[in-house]
Amino acid sequence: MTTPTGIAPRLEEACSDRPLRVLGIESSCDETGVALVEVASAGPGSAMPLLLAHALHSQIDMHQAYGGVVPELASRDHIRRVVPLLRETLSRAELALEQVDVVAYTQGPGLAGALLVGAGFGCALGLALDRPVMTVHHLEGHLLSPFLSADPPEFPFVALLVSGGHTQLMRVDGVGRYELLGETIDDAAGEAFDKTAKMLGLGYPGGPALARLAEQGRGDAFALPRPLMRSGNLDFSFAGLKTAVWTQLSRLDAAAGGRADEAQRADLAASTQAAIVEVLVTKSLAALKLTGLKRLVVAGGVGANRRLREVLSQQCGRKGIRVHYPELQLCTDNGAMIALAAAMRLQAGLAHPTLDYRFDVRPRWDLSAA
Ligand code: KG4
Ligand code: ZN
Repeated sequence: MTTPTGIAPRLEEACSDRPLRVLGIESSCDETGVALVEVASAGPGSAMPLLLAHALHSQIDMHQAYGGVVPELASRDHIRRVVPLLRETLSRAELALEQVDVVAYTQGPGLAGALLVGAGFGCALGLALDRPVMTVHHLEGHLLSPFLSADPPEFPFVALLVSGGHTQLMRVDGVGRYELLGETIDDAAGEAFDKTAKMLGLGYPGGPALARLAEQGRGDAFALPRPLMRSGNLDFSFAGLKTAVWTQLSRLDAAAGGRADEAQRADLAASTQAAIVEVLVTKSLAALKLTGLKRLVVAGGVGANRRLREVLSQQCGRKGIRVHYPELQLCTDNGAMIALAAAMRLQAGLAHPTLDYRFDVRPRWDLSAA
């Protein structure tokens, strides 16, 4: 395994006759995640890392009362959860803390205070155990998460990264080889789901709630804009859609002399979802055409959307394009994807584990610079 001088001999010696165990810690937003993966030796054809165990705590219930994530509360909750989650992970994996070889944590992007909890905890753990620590880019975790699924992709592929903060299309040629093809110039797709859900009084997190309401409505009920769909590039824009939904909802409310009825609200939810899905699918197909690739990976929270999956499989199936997703439970934030990304970086010789436990976080961080 190729690792920086100083650490490489130690890791190699420790793992000469057994796989390396990587602990992953995720705390970038409103989920605390801890996971352990095992990774065999490096080199072409080496086996994929194996997920031994993971544990997750979602703060959704706590933030629901505020209609969105409250950063200060998020950080404090990560502090409360991280030790019990570590214990749970170790117990599920039937391993002792001393059997961890490397500690990896999400360094960014995300909420600064929330990231600091995972970074501080990871480095303290590394120091106490005398084990190297390494940083992981949160989006790289999402991007590589389908490698933990029953149907893992092969490089190269086009990745559609759709989370609460990001909407990006990337060409992925291998671990650490990411070329940005296009991204949102304003709101992310997840944000469009969340903001529309809020207008409809559906609470937080909006994506799953809007998707549920949309199941009862007609996607063609209202003609909502498909921003930048025919722009000729692979960028996205969702801010205008939010305004169009607001205008439509105000009209419906006014016509009803108060609050639009449930059927109309469901139609509006379904029409919003249809607009977002159509733009995401059209741009993904354009990215596949541009690159000539026949494989698509969809990752990030919005990747859990059922309608998006249905339309993608219909349209890609017709064109002979394989679509890969993470397991549903690993679409939203989790520790497994962080441990996996760290392990794949180690395997590819791209990781920089260190015994220097000074740390900092990167709330804003481009994946192409990782
Ligand atoms: O990847 P993620 O868990 O966190 C970030 O890194 O942002 O993504 C969260 C986003 C939220 O905007 C949430 O509303 C959206 O993913 N989401 C969904 C669904 N499940 C989660 N959006 C649409 N349909 C869903 N089923
Ligand atoms: Zn995420």
